[in-house]
Amino acid sequence: MDRCLAADTIKNIDTEVTLLGWVDTIRSHGKIAFIDLRDRSGLVQCVDTSGKISAGNEDVIKITGLVKKRPEKMINLKIPSGTVEVSIKSFEILTKSKELPFAIDCDGYDINEEIRMKYRYLDIRRLRITRNLKIRSQVTTFIRNFLTKRDFAEIETPMLTKTTPEGARDFIVPSRLQKGKFYALPQSPQQYKQLLMVAGIERYFQIVRCFRDEDPRADRAYGEFTQLDLEMSFVNQEDIMRLTEEMFTKLVAEIFPEKHILISPWPRLSHKEVMEKYKTDKPDLRKNKTDKNELAFSWTIDFPLFTEQSKEDFYHGSGKAKFAPSHHMFAAPHPDDIPLLSSDPMKVRGLQHDLVLNGYEVGGGSMRIHEKELQEKIFDLIGFTDKQKMQFEHILTAFTFGVPPHGGIAPGIDRFLMAALGEPSVREVMAFPTSSSGQTAVMDAPSNVTEEQLKELEIKIVSAK
Ligand code: AMO
Repeated sequence: MDRCLAADTIKNIDTEVTLLGWVDTIRSHGKIAFIDLRDRSGLVQCVDTSGKISAGNEDVIKITGLVKKRPEKMINLKIPSGTVEVSIKSFEILTKSKELPFAIDCDGYDINEEIRMKYRYLDIRRLRITRNLKIRSQVTTFIRNFLTKRDFAEIETPMLTKTTPEGARDFIVPSRLQKGKFYALPQSPQQYKQLLMVAGIERYFQIVRCFRDEDPRADRAYGEFTQLDLEMSFVNQEDIMRLTEEMFTKLVAEIFPEKHILISPWPRLSHKEVMEKYKTDKPDLRKNKTDKNELAFSWTIDFPLFTEQSKEDFYHGSGKAKFAPSHHMFAAPHPDDIPLLSSDPMKVRGLQHDLVLNGYEVGGGSMRIHEKELQEKIFDLIGFTDKQKMQFEHILTAFTFGVPPHGGIAPGIDRFLMAALGEPSVREVMAFPTSSSGQTAVMDAPSNVTEEQLKELEIKIVSAK
């Protein structure tokens, strides 16, 4: 179809064009009516002098007309097509729209979120959300290009897998073929990416969905979120931090040219130092917190390898052992502190690096353990029984077949975008986020399944509210 986008009308002055899109607004002044047509490129003003056109906001329309330069005093510099208007020759309504349940010509922050999520497809029509999603796409495209140019391979890892201990509850999926057994959705591809290092891939990344059943917060999505998961072999911690820093610095320059990074190179601050100075491991180093264009990145390093284990620790379940990994159980101890593993584990530093932006932890990673004996020692310290160790037998076995030293990081895409765009919640940068009560946007999930489905899986609901 020979279609002209709203933004391209300025290249087609004195030409007849066909436009397709939505009625953004319609204003009638007697015999003359102005219709702002909206499509993916923006708005263009169309003018009708026949007095015969009637349409409603958000109707989908087709307009054929002549592009004309606007008189000097009618120019609207607020829109890219503001120097032209389209004189309507023919007009057709393709589909009608009912009145929307809320306004979309505003930023939407004040509108009830439940209603916004019920009609998220309308909420996305809002310029702010459309723009956030397009920026998100630019960010992931930039990352893919940046990493593939540096010899990284993007490799998909399974979604139906085994429990992956990242500290939250798992989402479990019943197996039909092996009744009574369950898959778990990955909390992150941590173990697979380490296995890919054993496999000799050396440079892996994946823009990957992760699933965690944990209480949501503004900066923490319930259920699912996206990571840039990355792993490298034959590198040290500095190599990982330098690559990440180069990638985000270039990304900001290309995708957020209006923003500036306050401090470069990014400060590397020890956990002890930040806790003493800022009372948090994710300090907000901005000078002017009201400046939306100020970005302050930093690294927090030298975390203690362990924290005190609590009853809530899902690594373990019983909460009886003393130590829990402060990041995860595959993070390598600082080589100088290995003797302390036997004498004073709480004093051991981990080779962990957290990426911090404007007071948010936007990424976490570490160098990994690559020796079987050391990994077993960590399992012992966090109180694994032999049965629990068996759950990780695949990793211990893999560690007997020539493991390169390796490490990586996983910046959260949602959290990075939220921090960079100055949005109040990760939900503002996700297309169809789950609500804080675990309700999916638009579709009614979680929902009941049929008796037949349960029967086939040999699952019985014992009680349901
Ligand atoms: P970690 O658990 O620290 O590390 O997660 C890494 C990053 O993922 C993002 N993130 C989230 N974003 C939105 N909603 C959530 N619920 C959520 N949970 C985490 C954050 C966080 O910094 N496998 C390791 C990484 C590694 O060691 O390489 C991991 O997942 O931005």
